[in-house]
Amino acid sequence: MNEAANKPQVEAGWYGADPINMDLKSNPHPRYRQLREQAPVNLTPDGHWRLTRYVDIQKLLKHSKVGMRHLNGLIPDHNREETEASKFMLRQDPPDHDRLRQLVSKAFTPRALATLRPQVENLTHTELDKIIATGEMDLVEHLALLVPAASMCAMLGISFEDRSYLSGLVSHATYLLAIASYPELAETAMKALEELAAYMMELIEQRRVNPGNDILTALVQAEEAGDKLSTEELLQQCIGLLIAGLETTIGLIGNGMRCFGNNPDQFERLAAQPELIGTAVEECLRYEPSVPQTVRVLWEDTQFGDVLIPADSVINVMLIAANRDPQVFTEPDRFDIGRNEARHCSFGGGIHFCLGSHLARMNAEVAFTAIAQRITNIELIDAGFEWAPSLFRIPGRIPARFQIRR
Ligand code: HEM
Repeated sequence: MNEAANKPQVEAGWYGADPINMDLKSNPHPRYRQLREQAPVNLTPDGHWRLTRYVDIQKLLKHSKVGMRHLNGLIPDHNREETEASKFMLRQDPPDHDRLRQLVSKAFTPRALATLRPQVENLTHTELDKIIATGEMDLVEHLALLVPAASMCAMLGISFEDRSYLSGLVSHATYLLAIASYPELAETAMKALEELAAYMMELIEQRRVNPGNDILTALVQAEEAGDKLSTEELLQQCIGLLIAGLETTIGLIGNGMRCFGNNPDQFERLAAQPELIGTAVEECLRYEPSVPQTVRVLWEDTQFGDVLIPADSVINVMLIAANRDPQVFTEPDRFDIGRNEARHCSFGGGIHFCLGSHLARMNAEVAFTAIAQRITNIELIDAGFEWAPSLFRIPGRIPARFQIRR
């Protein structure tokens, strides 16, 4: 065989990892491996830099001068008006970021999570009771969507009946986060966002009249207190929480169930050793992250490997590539629920580290524990598998057959 035939094909510019190539979603890892090996610090055709190695990503997120906005205050790919309209905390730098994060984080205390957990467990088992005897289910509808929807609905005080409707809107709205790459989806994404805004505004008005025991009421009260939160900020934190929290966790549980379906030995291992649930969830997060990347703007010239990236550059931070970096993870392409190595990068890092990480973990622990107790011999029906229409890697349908565990 000639040597050239063995070499991976490198597309000019994107190195095979073009974000608008939908086929990348199904099988991204060989492309990111290629990128990590051949051009770990690279400049993309749209003028953003990309980092793929674990060490560089940690350096950027935790030890470099970075922000979410350019040095002139603009959000990347946004004009002044669009920047001013953008109020979710993930788009802000201090001091606005810290003020918003502090207000919202009140809802994520260990006590709030401890109260939520038994409710989510009950609901999961009630749903499994209904479906399990049929020997078939859509692992998204009956598990991956159900569990995080129960948490988000309880936290925001939203009707649980609306979960599929909301998750559909949230999926489409995610494209707004990268609209420069997906201009053809702008109209659908904007429409979804407007519908979400109208839905949340109605809830906010209801909470003004009838306060509840939820985060929405707490935020409405902060807004009414005057100087802490404007109405627009309040609305965008609520929509942002739905987008950041619902979609991503559907991905964690759905992608995790596909890992278990494809690695039945690991599923049986979890059933036999339920104490492995903590490392099992971390391994699902590492192995098939639902959010492949985050973004930062570099605020001063910084060296990554042998490349000096200039100040004010936009950097696409490829969390998905760092999670399989062989410099950090032994046999990174092996799914091993007992793995206990370095931390994966799936929740980002630095001051924007995912605020809902404990909630996401709790949801996944409940879902995987319940399902491992109750079913075995999962057979994924690949022909029926679908991705959701989302910027992230979120399954929309995972039909499966299984047997009841006796
Ligand atoms: C598996 C599930 C989840 C994943 C993979 C995920 C991932 C992420 C990532 C990558 C970021 C950006 C971090 C950075 O740039 O450094 C982020 C931020 C954020 N996430 Fe999550 N997330 C998940 C679940 C949740 C949940 C359940 C919530 C809340 C209900 C949530 C709320 C947030 C918020 C509010 C931010 C912005 C934090 C800030 O700007 O300070 N996330 N998440």
